[in-house]
Amino acid sequence: MSFFLIQMNFEGKDIISIKDFSKKEINYILNYAKEMVSYAKGEKYKDILKGKVLSSLFFEPSTRTRLSFESAMNRLGGRVIGFADPGATSQKKGESLADTIRMADAYSDTIVLRHPQEGAARLAAEFADGPVLNAGDGAGRHPTQCLLDLFTIKTEKKRIGKNKIVLLGDLKYGRTVHSLAYALSLYGADLTFVSPGSLKMPKEVINECKSLGSEPASTSNLEKAIKDADVLYVTRIQKERFPDAEEYNRVVGAYKIDNELLSAAQEDLIIMHPLPRVTEISPEVDKTPHALYFKQAFNGIPVRMALLSLVTGGKI
Ligand code: NCD
Repeated sequence: MSFFLIQMNFEGKDIISIKDFSKKEINYILNYAKEMVSYAKGEKYKDILKGKVLSSLFFEPSTRTRLSFESAMNRLGGRVIGFADPGATSQKKGESLADTIRMADAYSDTIVLRHPQEGAARLAAEFADGPVLNAGDGAGRHPTQCLLDLFTIKTEKKRIGKNKIVLLGDLKYGRTVHSLAYALSLYGADLTFVSPGSLKMPKEVINECKSLGSEPASTSNLEKAIKDADVLYVTRIQKERFPDAEEYNRVVGAYKIDNELLSAAQEDLIIMHPLPRVTEISPEVDKTPHALYFKQAFNGIPVRMALLSLVTGGKI
C-alpha cells in the first residue's frame, strides 16, 4: 500500500490539539483510518493491541467519544479500565488531576481524558509517561473528534479543501468547531461561521484560521449561508458552559434545521453534527440523504482505532 511507504512514527505521541499536527500527518492518520473501517465493522479482526490497557477517564458526560474509544480498543484486542463518573473516584476526596493521571499512567499504556477544564489534557500529558489523548477539554479543543470530522468530509466529498463549509451554532463554547475551523483552514476550505451574536467564534480561533491563509466569513443569515454549501456542520448550544442561565435562555432555540429550510440547499449538501443534538436538527431531517451525523459518529471507531494503534505502536 503506497501510503505505508512513507511511514510516520506516532508511537508515544500525545494527541492534545489538532494544531500539533501537520497536514501530512493528518493525511497519514486519515489514510490509516480508512484501512481500519472493516476492522471497525467487525468484518476483520487482528489483535494488534493485545496486552495493551487503555485508561478511559471521563470527568464529563460522553456517549460517542467514550464508547467509540472503548470499542476501538476492544476491537483491536486491547483492554479498557477507567470511569465515566468522577464522583465515584478519589477526586471526591480531593485528589488532584495530576495524581489521578500518575496512577492511570502506572496502571495502563495510554490515557484518554475528557475534562471540563481547558488545558487539562496538556497538563495531564506532563504527568504521564505514556501517550495522553484529549477527548475534549472544556470549551478548548477536541482533536480526535476533529479527525473523525475530517475523515467524514473526505470520505463523502472525496477531498477536504475546496468545499464550502458552514459551521453553525455555538461557536463560542463548542470545542469541536474550534478544532475543526483550524483544520479546515489548513486544507484551504471555504468557511462561513453562522451563530447567534453572543456565541461567535472566538477571535483567537479566527486568527489561527487567518494565519493559515483562510478568510472565514461570519453571518447570522443561515438561509443564505446554506444555499451553496457543500457541508453544514451543526452544533448544540453548550448549555453547561454558560456562566448564567439567563444568557442561555436568550439563545436557546435560536436556530433549527428542518426540511423546509433545506429545500433551498444543494442536493448533495451533507449535514454533520458531533452529537448529541437537542433541538437544532429536526428528526425529519434524519430520513433525508443530507443527514450524515450517524455515519459520522460511526467514523469515530476507525479513526480512534487508527490513533490508538499509532500511539501504542501496534500495526495492522
Ligand atoms: C461534543 C463534545 O463533547 O464536545 N460531542 C462529542 O464529543 N461527540 C459536542 C457536544 O457535546 O455538543
